Amino acid sequence: MLQAVSKAFFSVLADSKGLKSLASRYGMRAHGGGFARRFIAGETVEEAIEAARAIERDRLMVTLDFLGESVATMAEADAATRAYLGVLDTIAASGVERNISLKLTQLGLTIDRATCVDNLRRILDAGQAKDFFVRIDMENSPFTEVTLGVFETMWQQGYRNVGVVLQSCLGRSEADAARMNALGARVRLVKGAYKEPKDVAYQSMAEVDAAYLRIMRILLAGGTYPAIATHDPAMIDATRAFAAERGVDPSSYEFQMLYGIRRDLQASLVREGYRVRVYVPFGREWFPYFMRRLGERPANIGFVINGLLREQRTRAAAT
Ligand code: FDA
Repeated sequence: MLQAVSKAFFSVLADSKGLKSLASRYGMRAHGGGFARRFIAGETVEEAIEAARAIERDRLMVTLDFLGESVATMAEADAATRAYLGVLDTIAASGVERNISLKLTQLGLTIDRATCVDNLRRILDAGQAKDFFVRIDMENSPFTEVTLGVFETMWQQGYRNVGVVLQSCLGRSEADAARMNALGARVRLVKGAYKEPKDVAYQSMAEVDAAYLRIMRILLAGGTYPAIATHDPAMIDATRAFAAERGVDPSSYEFQMLYGIRRDLQASLVREGYRVRVYVPFGREWFPYFMRRLGERPANIGFVINGLLREQRTRAAAT
């Protein structure tokens, strides 16, 4: 219950254009933004690469996400695409793993599907030439079908360096998992980070978890190198048990977790021989991502308030 309220509250904040632009203008170090560093590797690609190197030293894998959300004009979509292409060059030159995650609204999905497809194709072409894997993150439910549709368009055009995400909170996702398995597409399974209406989504955690387990089995039994993305030990244990029972080798799927969350669990899975990838977000548009992370765990609110109070005390002492 508390988690549902917290998710709803923070999803309103995440959508606030005023707060977003304030956060981008003043940066992560101001006004409590320092706490965001726990979840976000930094504002620049260089900071993200530094974080990725440290993660790789610990024998984990990475996917880098240049944070950005819905753009409002074609010019912004083009600028975001060019910025992403620059990020690909920098990552390729750095030597860290070539694996990125992006959102289609960042590339103009809300303006025009064809523009978004063109922009995604530019990224996939550059990515293919440099041997990148590109994961299309899943946004909220108004974008589910169109995101899968854009993905299928790319797949039909022969791109294979691309994968999608399915959210177990949505009632449709079991059928979507079968649809993606039939293609041979790589799927990342998550519970879902957005507040969704009850006509499309399960409202209780128990239902979301039960659906997660059903879809995990569909992906492990018939999918292509699925990514089981969760910090929930119950989901992870069930995945390991199902894989062992079915003789699915640990090299044919991977676990994924978010930067800064359950590092202990990330490390212990690697020690036991599992493949674990860490999702490393970075960029000036960190605010909505940060708000979604806070909404997932009401205890995080306490950390932020403490951080703000500490910052205020430091400022007061300095004046
Ligand atoms: P759950 O929320 O039940 O948490 C289980 C445990 O994990 C908690 O008890 C706590 O210990 C820890 N935990 C979880 N969230 C935390 C937080 N914010 N702060 C501190 N501890 C926390 N969603 C989406 O809609 N589209 C997407 O494309 C993606 N992509 C994505 C990639 C990767 C690699 C991951 C791991 C997750 C996503 N998500 C996502 C987010 C996902 O939908 C979900 O919101 C979070 O993973 C939290 O759900 P859990 O499965 O961890 O379970």
